[in-house]
Amino acid sequence: MMPTGPGVVACVCVGCLLFFGILSKFRPKSWEEDEFQFYIDKFNKSYVNETEYQQRFLAFKKSLEMIEIMNKNRTYQTSALYGVTAFSDMLQSEFEDLRLQKNYAERMALRQANNAGSNEKLHRFRRDFTDANLPRKIDWRTQGALTPVNNQHECGACWAFSAIETIEAAHWLRTGELRPLSTQQMIDCARNGNNGCRGGDICTLFEWLVDNDVAIRPADDYPLHLRDEQCKKLTSVGNATTASESKTDVRVTNFVCMDMIGKEDDLLAGIGRMGPVAVAVNAISWQNYLGGVIQHHCGSHPALMNHAVQIVGYDLEAEIPHYLVRNSWGEEFGHQGYLKIAIGGNLCGIVNEVAAVEVT
Ligand SMILES: *[C@@H]1O[C@H](CO)[C@@H](O)[C@H](O)[C@H]1NC(C)=O
Ligand SMILES: *[C@@H]1O[C@H](CO)[C@@H](O)[C@H](O)[C@H]1NC(C)=O
Ligand SMILES: *[C@@H]1O[C@H](CO)[C@@H](O)[C@H](O)[C@H]1NC(C)=O
Ligand SMILES: *[C@@H]1O[C@H](CO)[C@@H](O)[C@H](O)[C@H]1NC(C)=O
Repeated sequence: MMPTGPGVVACVCVGCLLFFGILSKFRPKSWEEDEFQFYIDKFNKSYVNETEYQQRFLAFKKSLEMIEIMNKNRTYQTSALYGVTAFSDMLQSEFEDLRLQKNYAERMALRQANNAGSNEKLHRFRRDFTDANLPRKIDWRTQGALTPVNNQHECGACWAFSAIETIEAAHWLRTGELRPLSTQQMIDCARNGNNGCRGGDICTLFEWLVDNDVAIRPADDYPLHLRDEQCKKLTSVGNATTASESKTDVRVTNFVCMDMIGKEDDLLAGIGRMGPVAVAVNAISWQNYLGGVIQHHCGSHPALMNHAVQIVGYDLEAEIPHYLVRNSWGEEFGHQGYLKIAIGGNLCGIVNEVAAVEVT
């Protein structure tokens, strides 16, 4: 007879391999579910039941797809790298609801309409802001000008964090003293359209602080609770320490708020001279940001603005010249809480709304 036996067996086996190979390739279970299990362990996630597990798994798979697309545009070793983060088990819409401020653009538009033509007194200040020789790189962190990275959790007060951080830095520049100031006071007390954990705007906050000559309390005196509470008037509270308390108040005496589209060189000069600035951004694509310089996938249209952060420096010597940006999503995010955004293209809308302050 013929030696067909082994031949047939071999054929069947190759067939089996092909068959199962194809099956497993098109069966989503294998590697994605493995990845998800790894993710659950790594980020210490727990889901209440199978329904939630499946929802999170679906969102996770969408994140994996997005990550793959976004990483395709990496052009340099130092380009932004995307991967799974603590937020990767959320749908983009959930991320937007929980971490971003959907109404930021509306608030910005309102302010711009209200403020049209009221900029005269800012002329001198603005000239200061943009008039300087340009160092090749600046990192205010290394100067000791900054407090530690904040974590806003699910309180939508990014606007208060970035504004207070910017006031702290301005106070440091003027006095040499780094004093943590109360973000909770802004959450509870700021008016002028600002609304605590439900949202606000850096520029209307600065306007409110100047117009009302608000004494900003030290963070210790008015601690962070990350929820909307009754505004506490602390200025005249206290007995033995009234005098020293009033000495520790910081006030914003002037501010500038403008778009710097096409004027990013001026912004760099401003950061060099006046220190960190508060800015509005579109942070939707930061959901899966691991690190590196963002050059793509970060729309700049004013209608997309949904978050506020702080620019704390820049680097023109880097392979991809970029801003150093402090976020308020804890130290686990990005580069120990910071991220890098390429200079020059209004990426993420980072120069749509730039604000700097003068303080006492
Ligand atoms: C993991 O999460 C549980 C509850 O969600 C918590 O009690 C525990 O401390 C966490 N462990 C770590 C290492 O984060
Ligand atoms: C799973 O948990 C969610 C949230 O607690 C709940 O709304 C839902 O009814 C639960 N589903 C099942 C099948 O138990
Ligand atoms: C990203 O890369 C794809 C092709 O890989 C290209 O079609 C697309 O235009 C790029 N997007 C950006 C924002 O550069
Ligand atoms: C300040 O006043 C409160 C009550 O008004 C009192 O309990 C407290 O002992 C006083 N502190 C000092 C240092 O006098």
